[in-house]
Amino acid sequence: MTDPTIHPEAHAQLSIAGILAEFDGPEAVKAAAAKVREAGFRRWDVHSPYPIHGIERAMGVRNTFLPWLVLGAGTIGIAAALLMQWWMNAVDYPMIISGKPFFSLPANVPILFELMVLFSAIAAFGGVLALNLLPQFWHWTFGGSRFPKATTDGFFIAIDAADKQFDESAARSLLEAAGATSIEICRDVPENAKRVPWLFKWLVAAVAAAAVVPPLLVAQYRYGTKSLPRIHPIQDLDFQEKYKPQSASPLFADGRAMRPPVPGTVADGRLEADEHFYRGLVGGKEATTFPAQVAKDLPAWMARGRERFNIFCSTCHGLQGEGGITGITSIRAMKRIDATTDPPGWVLPLSLHKEEVRQQPVGKYFSTIANGIRTMPSYGAQIPVEDRWAIILYIRALQKSQNATLDEVPEDLRGLLK
Ligand code: HEC
Repeated sequence: MTDPTIHPEAHAQLSIAGILAEFDGPEAVKAAAAKVREAGFRRWDVHSPYPIHGIERAMGVRNTFLPWLVLGAGTIGIAAALLMQWWMNAVDYPMIISGKPFFSLPANVPILFELMVLFSAIAAFGGVLALNLLPQFWHWTFGGSRFPKATTDGFFIAIDAADKQFDESAARSLLEAAGATSIEICRDVPENAKRVPWLFKWLVAAVAAAAVVPPLLVAQYRYGTKSLPRIHPIQDLDFQEKYKPQSASPLFADGRAMRPPVPGTVADGRLEADEHFYRGLVGGKEATTFPAQVAKDLPAWMARGRERFNIFCSTCHGLQGEGGITGITSIRAMKRIDATTDPPGWVLPLSLHKEEVRQQPVGKYFSTIANGIRTMPSYGAQIPVEDRWAIILYIRALQKSQNATLDEVPEDLRGLLK
């Protein structure tokens, strides 16, 4: 609508911003759009209350550049994630975890995916706005007196005066010939009318000021002298009156706040009186037999033992327990260390088929798993008692597989050995 604050004469002095033509309906505007395109105009647009099928072909709208933008941003996201993780894990803060490589692609995939999505989404969102020249507070078509109809029942073509081949009378006759029902010349508003509303400016300023507060708070806590947690929005029981571990208490004669359990205390269900089963001991000596529980369902224990052995032991001792450089950890260690150093950087795991190891009673194996032995670490924390016995059962089977006598081979298979 013509700005009522501008005097009509002054309005006529303002330069022409564009020409706005109204058409009868979707078909009419589509046909007219084809004519405007054929006339070679570049800076023009069609406005309708709803999307018109085929209007993009009539207007000659080219495919948007946006997918390429998103593809590029996604690719940059993947590259950035890869670079970031490689830098953090392999260069800046390498951590040794059971001889695993510092950098391995599969572990990085989730972050690659995340950053790809993030970058693409930001590019798609920002790209749509930027390619559509948004946000825009004012457009010259708003000056058209009939233009508000574009949101209800009006079909318009707007040709921008900035178009290279714009000529008022030529454009007017083109649109008339194309069947326009009304034509209006829109003028630019004076520069001062295009100013951003003051309320908006203040809102932006207020938001910008508020955005500075969190980083300032972070800086205060980071570089200040407070010993409290830096930012503590949820208090939980963190500031409760209580003793922290290892602190002193005047209440007890020995001054310790941490109290050991009364001698003889047993946690519920943890009596573990069965020495054989829980400690691998019989009469204080290493057990030579399996505890009775194992005999109840031998195949199930064996299957479990095989599974657990392959998880916990085969990485060093190899899938058949042959030791040496057969487990993946040893293979990798040999690649990384200098085997000629003294003492050697890596002790090779023993073969479980060695005579001395084979002769050991099962109770000794139990202790080896529970407590570790020499350079082999303890697996007591990771392998529960049941699984220790299952593993030992499987080790016995492995040993048998390498040391069977002819008598132990079933009759019908013996022929194969001869
Ligand atoms: C991190 C590697 C590693 C893993 C995993 C490992 N071992 Fe060992 N194991 C060794 C090494 C090394 C030795 C030899 C230790 C030495 O001589 O200092 C050894 C020795 C042994 C011995 C011989 C002990 C002796 O009395 O000489 C047995 C039995 C054994 N391991 C059983 C197991 C079982 C069962 C598991 C799975 C629960 C297991 N090991 C897991 C590295 C490992």
